[in-house]
Amino acid sequence: MRLAIIGVGTVGGGLAAAAVGAGHDVVVSATDPARAQERAATSGATAASGNVDAVQQSDVVVLAVPHAAVAGIVTELGAALDGKVVVDATNPLNDSYSDLTTSGVSAAEQLQQQVPQARVVKALNTVFASRYAAPTEGGVPVDALLAGDDERAKTTVARLVASLGLRPVDAGALRMARTLEELAFLNISLNATHGWTWQSAFQLVGPQAPAAS
Ligand SMILES: NC(=O)c1ccc[n+]([C@@H]2O[C@H](COP(=O)([O-])OP(=O)(O)OC[C@H]3O[C@@H](n4cnc5c(N)ncnc54)[C@H](OP(=O)(O)O)[C@@H]3O)[C@@H](O)[C@H]2O)c1
Repeated sequence: MRLAIIGVGTVGGGLAAAAVGAGHDVVVSATDPARAQERAATSGATAASGNVDAVQQSDVVVLAVPHAAVAGIVTELGAALDGKVVVDATNPLNDSYSDLTTSGVSAAEQLQQQVPQARVVKALNTVFASRYAAPTEGGVPVDALLAGDDERAKTTVARLVASLGLRPVDAGALRMARTLEELAFLNISLNATHGWTWQSAFQLVGPQAPAAS
């Protein structure tokens, strides 16, 4: 898979290394091209000269940036995003991490409206970056929920997620991104409140297939 990762922080850097390890062709970009080169060197990815360059080299684009940066990046990318699968891994947290900045609609739905020609999939936002290096719990892959309106795009992202050793779980249409963003916020709040180590993950248990007739 030709993957562009925009942002080389905790998520972007970790994901780049994991995706290279899974055999993907990964290009990264950052605000500062020198930072992209640094992270490319440590992850085995290649560094783009900028966000547009990264997107032009890819089929799947992961937004691994603070949510507040997304609108500017979308404006910068313009038509370069047309037809691309765009993985929205962001969580729209406020500055104090005490709430989401969205109300009644998800960041991912807002993004899809901004880039109608792209195929937005909400994914990886519910999984802490620490899990890229430890994608299983007790030998069982950690669940990675995803949501989107384009079935083929979701299938592509599910393949990406599975290649990282996580278990993709299709949560439904992009509307479900509202729940995924709240779920991630809950996990963040739990870790911040209780002083946990930012490794907790949600796992569905119990039967998850239709009963045999
Ligand atoms: N950390 C987690 O475990 C986790 C898990 C799931 C989802 N998320 C979400 O994923 C997103 C990234 O989180 P993070 O923890 O990786 O944040 P981070 O460590 O602060 O990294 C953010 C990255 O985005 C880059 N960036 C900012 N504006 C940019 C632009 N215009 N163009 C290109 N790159 C830009 C930053 O580069 P500069 O520093 O050079 O500006 C930095 O490399 C957030 O929305 C977060 O809520 C985080």
